[in-house]
Amino acid sequence: MQDFLKGLPKAELHLHIEGSLEPELMFEIGRRNGVALPFANVEEVRAAYEFNNLQEFLDIYYQGAQVLLHEQDFYDMTFAYLQRCREQNVIHTEMFFDPQTHTDRGVDIGVVIRGLTRAMEDAEAQWGQSSKLILCFLRHLSEEAAMETLRQALPYKQHFVGVGLDSSEVGHPPEKFQRVFEQALNAGLLSVAHAGEEGPPEYIWQALDLLKVKRIDHGVRCIEDAALMQRLIDEQIPLTVCPLSNIKLCVFDSMSEHNILRLLEKGLKVTVNSDDPAYFGGYMNENFIAMQEALPMSKEQAAQLARNSFEASFLTSEEKVRLLARLDQYLQNH
Ligand code: HPA
Ligand code: ZN
Repeated sequence: MQDFLKGLPKAELHLHIEGSLEPELMFEIGRRNGVALPFANVEEVRAAYEFNNLQEFLDIYYQGAQVLLHEQDFYDMTFAYLQRCREQNVIHTEMFFDPQTHTDRGVDIGVVIRGLTRAMEDAEAQWGQSSKLILCFLRHLSEEAAMETLRQALPYKQHFVGVGLDSSEVGHPPEKFQRVFEQALNAGLLSVAHAGEEGPPEYIWQALDLLKVKRIDHGVRCIEDAALMQRLIDEQIPLTVCPLSNIKLCVFDSMSEHNILRLLEKGLKVTVNSDDPAYFGGYMNENFIAMQEALPMSKEQAAQLARNSFEASFLTSEEKVRLLARLDQYLQNH
């Protein structure tokens, strides 16, 4: 079963590129940029990755990103992640990036976007890696700051497919960013938002109705609201669920209590994702394997999760057909 999961062609739709920065690369980039880290070595960094909630993680995640200054730093981080995609049969990925984490330190948004896109182009040229970018606004910052970020990003619009909303959820409801998302939608971008990770089902309703999102990131708290569940099923709104992340951030006490298979069985369009793999103990295959070890996941369910990942993606219908054919071929042979 584990070999089946590892070989399964899949797409990743919820991945923060800054959350893929492994401690080894963090130290290497910090050293070459003269940015000191408050840790003596890689082991100390890993030992600090124990979180009781989202905010404890975010504090350390923003600290780690401070080593990133130059285009090459963003390139190296992104290329390393795309190589993991290749190793794990993640044949398409849609990566979040957080420009404000960098522009607030004086890094130009163009430096960030050029580093990311150059890595994506090289991975595409070298092994045909398919990838897209989604720009995320930090919801703990103001509406004005998000508006300014969108203004700075629009000259690079051809490099990203949509906008998203991440960072500290509770106390920062989607409605705070309704006008920013309206502008992004008017510019022809798609939208997604983190909702229902720590925040209440009401935030999922707002993301759908006010931000017009095409997918909900996390969304696991939808199970508390029957009318919302029905809407998500009826409209087949995808949820980008992140099992290992949810355990590391104590959204569920243990993997055996995770509701991902219950949501799948009820007919929601659920997908599996790694969120911040360098911080949460694994990439896509580690997520599938952790589920398989703790939950009664059948081969058919794993295949459905992979199928959902392509169908829920922002690929064109032609591209979806091509990648789904690769999945079907794999399933015929395994
Ligand atoms: N939730 C909110 N913000 C984030 C996350 C997450 O899981 N990962 C990186 N930023
Ligand atoms: Zn996330």
